[in-house]
Amino acid sequence: MKRITTGIPRLDKLVEGGYPEGAVVLVSGSPGAGKTIYAMQFLIDGARKGDKGLYISFEESVKNVKMQADEFGWNLDALERKNQLRVVSLMVAHSNITKVLDEIESLVRKFMPKRLVLDSLSTLGVFTEIETQVDHGKELLSNVFGEAIIRKAIITLVERLRAFDTITTIVTSELQEGSPWYSRDTVSEFACDGVVKLSKIDAAGKRLLTVVKMRATKHQFLPKTIEIGDKGIVILE
Ligand SMILES: Nc1ncnc2c1ncn2[C@@H]1O[C@H](COP(=O)(O)OP(=O)(O)OP(=O)(O)O)[C@@H](O)[C@H]1O
Ligand SMILES: [Mg+2]
Repeated sequence: MKRITTGIPRLDKLVEGGYPEGAVVLVSGSPGAGKTIYAMQFLIDGARKGDKGLYISFEESVKNVKMQADEFGWNLDALERKNQLRVVSLMVAHSNITKVLDEIESLVRKFMPKRLVLDSLSTLGVFTEIETQVDHGKELLSNVFGEAIIRKAIITLVERLRAFDTITTIVTSELQEGSPWYSRDTVSEFACDGVVKLSKIDAAGKRLLTVVKMRATKHQFLPKTIEIGDKGIVILE
């Protein structure tokens, strides 16, 4: 099986050389745990190896994404000029979930990246509005029903992404420390091929990375201590 390197020093060794090509990997963690940096590092690593990357943000402007990347010396503008990377911001508030899914797929088909990042599924789930067809027209739902539809939409999205078997994808999801789930929608951890958890032990000032699941991979699942430094995330031990 072809492996796609993660971009995190020492992580490849823990997952038989990288993510299985075509996999959809969920990166889960609390606010500030490093999800965006982790995902961006995957694309930067790809760009260095000639893999085209597409980053779709549902919460930040393109300008903010680029500013954050600058902190680590990642010049996204330069990579975009070379057509190695594309950064897109999709503001999904008041948008319909079905339309957003179609838009994501259309962006992917147009650019055909080797590496794709969707940041984050939680924002997508919280802000999109759900329209259902009822007998006399359209009705907006935003209750328990709505959540069930979002869950279904997330599973559909993951399936549609997996259908691109040459594209390896990272999707991020926000979650509070201590939650028994790995995503707010509580289904993406089952739908995705891999789950990586980033956590912060605030009392000890420590950051941890755990490979919770990785399809077709013999991996360790003990937490590793990580650090966010000048070049992004590194595993310390
Ligand atoms: N230059 C830096 N050096 C060290 N640590 C940094 C640096 N820049 C950011 N950080 C750390 O990384 C965190 C932000 O990482 P990132 O944006 O990837 O988190 P996130 O999990 O995506 O958060 P959110 O849920 O808010 O989107 C900051 O809160 C800070 O702790
Ligand atoms: Mg983020």
